[in-house]
Amino acid sequence: MKRKVTKIGLLGFGTVGKEVFRILNEQQDYFAHKMESDIEVKSICVKDLNKDRGIDKKYFTTDYKAMASDSEIDVIVELIGDCPEALDAIKVALKHKNSVVTANKALIAKHGQELFALAREHNVEILFEASVAGGIPVLRSLREGLAADKIKSLYGIINGTSNYILTKMTQEKADYETALKEAQDKGFAEADPSADVMGHDAAYKLCVLTMLCHGKVISVDDVFCRGIYYIQPIDIEMADKFGFVIKLLGITKTNGNEFEARVHSTMVSKTDPLAHINGAYNAIQYNCHYAGKGMLYGLGAGGAPTASAVVGDIIELTKNIRSKNKINIEPSGFLSDSLVVTKPKDILDLKTRYYIRFSVLDKPNVLASITSVLGKNNISVQHLYQHGEDEDQTIPLIVFTHDAFEKDVRKALRDIDKMDFITQTTKIIRIEE
Ligand code: HSE
Repeated sequence: MKRKVTKIGLLGFGTVGKEVFRILNEQQDYFAHKMESDIEVKSICVKDLNKDRGIDKKYFTTDYKAMASDSEIDVIVELIGDCPEALDAIKVALKHKNSVVTANKALIAKHGQELFALAREHNVEILFEASVAGGIPVLRSLREGLAADKIKSLYGIINGTSNYILTKMTQEKADYETALKEAQDKGFAEADPSADVMGHDAAYKLCVLTMLCHGKVISVDDVFCRGIYYIQPIDIEMADKFGFVIKLLGITKTNGNEFEARVHSTMVSKTDPLAHINGAYNAIQYNCHYAGKGMLYGLGAGGAPTASAVVGDIIELTKNIRSKNKINIEPSGFLSDSLVVTKPKDILDLKTRYYIRFSVLDKPNVLASITSVLGKNNISVQHLYQHGEDEDQTIPLIVFTHDAFEKDVRKALRDIDKMDFITQTTKIIRIEE
C-alpha cells in the first residue's frame, strides 16, 4: 500500500532549520518504523533566494503567507525568532488548518494563549518543545509525564550560552569575552547575544515553564531578570572559596497563592547537582508533591539538539494528523479557561542569603561604616572577606549575609554607595540553598 506523506513548510533555514532538514532526510527509513506515513519538506521560506544553501533551489520561496496557507502542507515549522512575520505566519497557518511547530519562546510567552485558542478553534495543534532547553524534553515531561503532579519549585539552567561562559570562567579562568566568542562560534548564542547574557532568553523560557508548571500566564516584564554580564573573576573565586558555584538560574516556586518567577546569577552549593551542569548543558531541577525531586539534563542549545526537539514535535503531529482524532492535548497542559493571567511575587519581598561585592578604598573606618548600615537595615553578616592589601587603593570587600529581605539589601546599598570610599556600584549575587 502506498504510504501517506505529511508535508512540511519550513520557515527559516538557519542553524536549526538546516538541521531539521538534515534529520528529516537522514532518518526517513528509521521514521518509517515509527509511523505509517512519511515526512517530506515541501517548501522552505527564506529572505534571500539568491544565497547558495547547498540544496535544490526548488524548495525555496520568499512568500511566507502563501506557504503558511498552502493546502498541500500539513505542518508549518517556524524557526525565524521573535518578529512580526513569525506571529503572522503562525496565525495564517492555524487559520488554514495547518498545524504548527515552533521553537520561539518569546512568541509562546507573549501570544501563547491567543495561539492555543486559534489552534483549538480550527482543530489543529501547536507544539513548542524546542522553545525551552533545546534537546531536553522538558515541556512534554511537565505536560504529560508529570500531569498528575503539582510542581512546588523548579530551578532551571536554561541558557546554554551563559552556562558555557560561566563554566569557562570557573574551570579555565577564561575571560568573559573569549568565552562568549566561543559560545557564539559553536552556534549556542542568540542572534543578539545580549539576550543570553542579560537573562532575557531565560526569562522568556521561564514564562513558558511557569505556564506548564502552574497554569499561570505571566508577562516577561514581570519576571525579575538580571544576567551574568557583571560577574568578574573575583566573584567566581569567592564563590569557590565559600563552597558555591555561580549559575544563571530561572526559578519558579509556589507557596499557597503566592508564586515566584525570577532569573538571575545565583550561587548554588557545590553539593547541589546544578553546580555540576557544565558547558552548554541545561538542566531543570524540580520538586513536586508526589513524585518528589527530579532533574532533566541535556544539551539546551545548538542546531542538532534543538532540531531533535522540533522533529519530535513533527512526528507527534504526524501521528495525530493521521489518526484524525479530535485534538485532546492542551498545549499548556491546562484547559484554556483554567489558565490564570497573573503576576509573580515582587522581588523586593524575596528573603534569601546574599553575596555582596563592595569596591572600596582601603582606608580606616570603611568596614565600620558598611557594617553599621547593614545592621541598621536588619542585614546580618555571616562571612566578611577583604581581598588584597593595597592601602588607599580600590579593593573588593566581600560580604556573605544571613537571610535578608531584598528591599532591605537594596536600601542599605543605596546608602552605602553614596559613601566617598565606594569606587564602583556594589554588586550582589543571590544565594539559593
Ligand atoms: N541561545 C540559547 C541558549 C539557545 O544559549 O540557550 C536557544 O534557546
